[in-house]
Amino acid sequence: MSLAYKVKDLGLAPQGRLQIEWAEMHMPVLMKIRERFSRTRPLEGVRIAACLHVTKETAVLVRTLKAAGAEVYLAASNPLSTQDDVAAALVEDGIHVFAWRGMSARDYYEAIARVIAAKPDLTMDDGGDLTALIHKLHYGEAGEDVEVAKGVVGRVSAEGVVGGTEETTTGVIRLRALAKEGRLLYPVIAVNESRTKYLFDNRYGTGQSSLDGVIRATNLLIAGKTVVVVGYGWVGRGIAMRAHGLGARVVVVEADPVRALEAYYDGFYVTDMEEAARIGDIFITATGNINVIRGEHMRLMKDGAVLANAGHFNVEISVRDLERMAVAKRTVRPGVEEYRLPDGRRVFLLCEGRLVNLAAAEGHPSEVMDMSFSNQALAAAYLVKRKGQLAPGVYKLPKPIDYRIARLKLESLNVKIERLTEEQKAYLRSWRLGT
Ligand code: ADE
Repeated sequence: MSLAYKVKDLGLAPQGRLQIEWAEMHMPVLMKIRERFSRTRPLEGVRIAACLHVTKETAVLVRTLKAAGAEVYLAASNPLSTQDDVAAALVEDGIHVFAWRGMSARDYYEAIARVIAAKPDLTMDDGGDLTALIHKLHYGEAGEDVEVAKGVVGRVSAEGVVGGTEETTTGVIRLRALAKEGRLLYPVIAVNESRTKYLFDNRYGTGQSSLDGVIRATNLLIAGKTVVVVGYGWVGRGIAMRAHGLGARVVVVEADPVRALEAYYDGFYVTDMEEAARIGDIFITATGNINVIRGEHMRLMKDGAVLANAGHFNVEISVRDLERMAVAKRTVRPGVEEYRLPDGRRVFLLCEGRLVNLAAAEGHPSEVMDMSFSNQALAAAYLVKRKGQLAPGVYKLPKPIDYRIARLKLESLNVKIERLTEEQKAYLRSWRLGT
């Protein structure tokens, strides 16, 4: 088999190798799974098409899949998130990588088409672009992505795909929409819905890495700033918690009344986007929705306001409105675009509104990706083991797998937990015992 790939520079591989080694040292659960998979080879001969952020942590995952016997085709899941040194090292490891930082929209879709062209048994997605493109090609739908892909693969069907996995909230929402239309073609495991994923990755991972991205891009002091967090799901909760920890005054904007109430009782100032726009210094979006910061808000912002997005897609901040309103634009630091408004005020957009944690920093730390990607690896093996048994639909990984990952993580941290006595177990099972 010849190795198909497209990366920036294979000469970066030695540097990438060091990064991967660092990640492996901090991902003990996944490494334990790799050890077992190398012996049991649950993915022998399985072709996997993956669309993931190409980072050192993803490298640990795909090397684990390969050790389990899989042949892996990997495309970037964002044009700005690829770590080029890691991509180069993975090619050396025999992974078909199609990813480089700064790829155009056309390159991005072409890369996804290249992994689809491998006729995968499994798909592994982060955000839903791979799954969506497979379905669009299957149903003969139109779109920019489809046009680009057709040039690479022609018209393909999803026959032969045993199942898929999805990493993130946005991707799961898209999958559910596809399933609701009755058009989802194969079973997909929503890895995002494992507790060992969203409680840690979405909250602590995005919480830390998004602030890391804002700080690396701007080097501004967070203490004393008013940080507006738009969206109070697990990601927003994490960002608000960490911004507060760094000394910011945190303002939360949320449309869901229960979440808004939760933010209020967590001690944050809760208001609508219009008021937040007037008082914020730094804005971080984490809603998964479109145009949550628009021209009508930008018009109200202070001179020097910084806009960043932590959601999966670059749709949360209306860059189009900013482009329309601005009379001048320049890059003032890597990843920091200054937009000058007609009255002289300046608004700074980070990383074109793409996810700031991966575009300006390195994404989530290895320790949390350890659990997220252990879920991915176990989900892949689960799907292969149940080949032909699962109807098309969106599934969670079974609870015992979630618990197994939590136990392995605790073990790696040398944390002991309590065991219930037989009496306590019986008490919890019984409705007879009260006071
Ligand atoms: N998503 C968020 N952080 C990530 C990382 N470090 N690697 C892969 N995907 C990620």
